[in-house]
Amino acid sequence: MSKRKILVTSALPYANGPIHLGHLVEYIQTDIWVRFQKQRGNNCIYVCADDTHGTPIMLRADNEGISPDQLIAQVEQEHRADFNDFDVLFDNYHSTHSEENKDLSELIYTRLRDADHISKRTITQAFDPVKNMFLPDRFITGDCPKCAAKGQYGDNCEACGATYSPTELKNAVSVVSGEKPIEKDSEHYFFNLADFTDMLKDWTTAAGHLQPEVKNKMAEWLENGLQQWDISRDAPYFGFEIPDAPGKYFYVWMDAPVGYMASFKNFCKKQNLDFDAFWGQDSDVELYHFIGKDIIYFHALFWPAMLSGAGFRTPSAVFAHGFLTVNGEKMSKSRGTFIKARTYLEHLNPEYLRYYFAAKLTNSIDDLDLNFDDFSQRVNSDLVGKVVNIASRCSGFIKKRFAGKLSASCAEPELFQQFIDANKPIAELYENREFGKAMREIMALADKANQYIEDKKPWLIAKEEGKDAELHAICSMGINCFRLLVAYLKPVIPVLAKNAESFLNIEPQVWPADAQPLLDHAINKFKPLMTRVETDKIDAIVKASKDNLQKTEAPKAKLFDPIANTIEFDDFAKIDLRIAKIIKAEQIEGAEKLLQLTLDIGDETRNILAGIKSAYAAEELEGKLTVVVANLKPRKMRFGLSEGMILAAGPGGKDLWLLSPDQGAQAGMRVK
Ligand code: 2FM
Ligand code: ZN
Repeated sequence: MSKRKILVTSALPYANGPIHLGHLVEYIQTDIWVRFQKQRGNNCIYVCADDTHGTPIMLRADNEGISPDQLIAQVEQEHRADFNDFDVLFDNYHSTHSEENKDLSELIYTRLRDADHISKRTITQAFDPVKNMFLPDRFITGDCPKCAAKGQYGDNCEACGATYSPTELKNAVSVVSGEKPIEKDSEHYFFNLADFTDMLKDWTTAAGHLQPEVKNKMAEWLENGLQQWDISRDAPYFGFEIPDAPGKYFYVWMDAPVGYMASFKNFCKKQNLDFDAFWGQDSDVELYHFIGKDIIYFHALFWPAMLSGAGFRTPSAVFAHGFLTVNGEKMSKSRGTFIKARTYLEHLNPEYLRYYFAAKLTNSIDDLDLNFDDFSQRVNSDLVGKVVNIASRCSGFIKKRFAGKLSASCAEPELFQQFIDANKPIAELYENREFGKAMREIMALADKANQYIEDKKPWLIAKEEGKDAELHAICSMGINCFRLLVAYLKPVIPVLAKNAESFLNIEPQVWPADAQPLLDHAINKFKPLMTRVETDKIDAIVKASKDNLQKTEAPKAKLFDPIANTIEFDDFAKIDLRIAKIIKAEQIEGAEKLLQLTLDIGDETRNILAGIKSAYAAEELEGKLTVVVANLKPRKMRFGLSEGMILAAGPGGKDLWLLSPDQGAQAGMRVK
């Protein structure tokens, strides 16, 4: 069989938070599938990247007082470490905030624009008047317009399920500033998805592109008519500026899937591969996207349309999976079941979870439940009790009685052949992402091997005189069965497989379609390959996840402008602040906001125009002490020259408060 050329992706995780067990369902699923393809000898490349753009990332960086670039660099390190430690092995891991992604996003956009698939129109959106930014729905909270539940997001109510627009929310506030949002117009860029209706009808219904249940959903959406897709966002936004539209940025979901191509392009540079052979219109490479069912719309409609409109190939298939539940319920921070990858790793072997997910995965979009009791029971009974146990039962005799060497002939050629023949159905199940069924096939083989040993009872034979050859044959047969079981489990538990290969003293195992038994072959000393799940470790994970919660309480909505950039002391020292006594305060004819103040600043008198009329009456100011910037360059204003500036706090209008020094301060004293 000729080698298949396959390019595989998992969804790009957002760079604003840690990897958790929910994410891992997908990365483990994809990694198993890719490892299976590689073990079969196919040329399979697995790429991924961090999804770095958008408002939440920009605001989180802001909250933490770092730049978005610093934030995404930090998170990328954490993501890479988590994937690495779970043995999720990408051929390339990149970032959407990269040269490759900028170039490709611009290329795709300009091609779509030049083919008339982009339109512009003005829309009205919620705007934060303090932060000076448009607010995504998720950044507005208020009371539900239907049921009045408090603290609901701008797009839907978690209490009654109503959906609405943010302008309908009662008592709406911006999560960013705590201020009431206003409405503001802005010109947006749209991708005319409807231009691709026919293309998408063909693509979504063609055999193999989508799972049946997904295909049906798409048919419904296509039936209802496709809307234009808003692909632009206004500054301030962390992303790529649209080439012909200064101040407008690509919406994160526009450049995110392009990140698949960008990561691959980056890989091509390192490996000297031909990018177009994979992404060009006539590519013969298989292209698969593994995703969660929540982002099907982007991958099965927008993405194929974008690719086709920009002259690239479309995916061979999009494989969607369901969500993770824990003990039958949605993952919950307060129950301690919202578990970070890192928290898990601090307590348990990642291969337990890889096996457990494999045992529960199907090729449907059904949700998958991690049940803690089932988890330890399944791992203990299958991996430790059935698989590793075979090796530990047989290897001792081989070592002690036969100098570590397997017998010269195969005791049960038929049983061995059954193990080999199973490679076809098992391969088919892996290929079709029916991992749960594949694990059951493999465990059925393990049961056969254990039954064989049970029947032959080597521990009794070992005590009988003159039965050495028989003992040797049985234990060697057991080891040969173990070796094939490990070959089949290798995509799922690669570390155990590698350790088993060194115990068996063999080369890395390929798919055992035509493997021969190991005969007259020296093996190494057996070391425990996997220990039982300790259930107190699970309790510790739940506890740690609850503790994490307390540490990472969502930051409070900020009430005030962010603190300005740090300055040097010398910068501050340039400002000469003085205590000033207001000796006269007068109205200015025609001025709405200004009062004219005469200030005594010790050795001089100053004339200052201050915008405080909305908050103070002239007569209440006379005689007060306050603080003035004494060395500010005099400024010519409509109503005269202002020789300095007095200091006040507050947003303005009636809410303005002049600073006044503590008792004892005298006009002319320097404030420092
Ligand atoms: O839903 C998410 O987590 C997105 N970051 C997935 C992006 S997948 C791809 F399109 F980049
Ligand atoms: Zn409601």
